[in-house]
Amino acid sequence: MRRVALLGATGSIGRQARQVIDAHPELELVAASSGSQPLDGLAPLTQVGGDPIELLERAEPDVVLNAVVGFAGVRATLWTLERGIDLALANKESLVAAGDLAVEAWKRGGGRLLPVDSEHSALHQCLEGRPKDTVAGVVLTASGGPFRGRNRSELSDVSTEDALVHPTWNMGPKITVDSATLANKGLEVIEAHFLFGLDYETIDVVIQPTSVIHGLVRLRDGAALAHIGYPDMRVPISYALTYPDRAATGLPQLDFSSELVLEFEPVDDDVFPMLGIARRAGGEGGTKPCVFNAANEVAVGAFLDRRLPFLGIAEVVERTLDEAGGGPAADIDDLVAIDQEARSLAEKALVLA
Ligand SMILES: NC(=O)c1ccc[n+]([C@@H]2O[C@H](COP(=O)([O-])OP(=O)(O)OC[C@H]3O[C@@H](n4cnc5c(N)ncnc54)[C@H](OP(=O)(O)O)[C@@H]3O)[C@@H](O)[C@H]2O)c1
Repeated sequence: MRRVALLGATGSIGRQARQVIDAHPELELVAASSGSQPLDGLAPLTQVGGDPIELLERAEPDVVLNAVVGFAGVRATLWTLERGIDLALANKESLVAAGDLAVEAWKRGGGRLLPVDSEHSALHQCLEGRPKDTVAGVVLTASGGPFRGRNRSELSDVSTEDALVHPTWNMGPKITVDSATLANKGLEVIEAHFLFGLDYETIDVVIQPTSVIHGLVRLRDGAALAHIGYPDMRVPISYALTYPDRAATGLPQLDFSSELVLEFEPVDDDVFPMLGIARRAGGEGGTKPCVFNAANEVAVGAFLDRRLPFLGIAEVVERTLDEAGGGPAADIDDLVAIDQEARSLAEKALVLA
């Protein structure tokens, strides 16, 4: 039996994780948390709101699935890595914001960090067992979101409702907006840098509109390995929770007799500047990725509240990055202070956007 602690149990990933856990007799849900929604006896230990660390300490899990959205998941990520407990990580924001601290904690703890993001799960599988010097780079695929193919002027008055309709994935509101701006792919580039120890120049992004190819690894001899499958988050969730056993999921196999469209397009950086802004934050390093994440959370929140136009999201994030310091964080308290400062700068930038 594997004892699972599920943080963010009421969200899109959390609900799908509950299906995966219910379907696998070897997985036992021992603890569950949410931000505000009730959990109604979902697990022997539950917690609504507040710091989940006490819950994790009582639960003594074998694996923590962190499916909280945003920076709120950062303490749980660091706690789990530090203790060498397996971490199934959906909460990419924590690895982006706390990348250096997380990698240090991971090294000290010596446990497994298993990505739940479908792209990184794909890369994890294609990279597994391969000597680092045989790998030339990786390619993250993006659906392109609901606004693929549009020009900038067509994006000036898109509504929150327009942005919340994703062509291939059904996800929580924050990541759906991040997919529409391509900030999600920017977060994923930084996530890949920390997860796989790759230089930013070796992490490419390509649009693959049907989301059937989840990721590719380029090898030094010119070959590329692709991971393909229908877009269904239960596959990477199951992979991360049952690693290395790869349990059966009962989900459909790819049907090659039906139409399977595998076309690619480059990213339009002028229309979708958030990917480039994320690369800038990653390249500058230190706590700039934390600033990028904090500003993006504030801007997306304001867009969802209809206080900021869609194109204002990139403006707010860029202005915040220009104004914030970026020195390294000594510890989590330092990082929380930097996150808070970036949020105040982003709130001020909202007025100007
Ligand atoms: N959805 C996907 O398909 C997908 C794919 C790849 C990666 N991810 C990543 O997975 C994470 C979760 O995404 P999601 O789409 O599942 O989001 P979601 O549907 O919005 O769910 C977020 C979960 O986090 C909880 N939460 C929110 N704020 C919290 C706080 N301050 N403290 C503790 N818990 C809090 C929520 O609780 P309440 O319900 O009580 O608010 C909810 O259970 C994100 O980092 C996202 O980028 C998601």
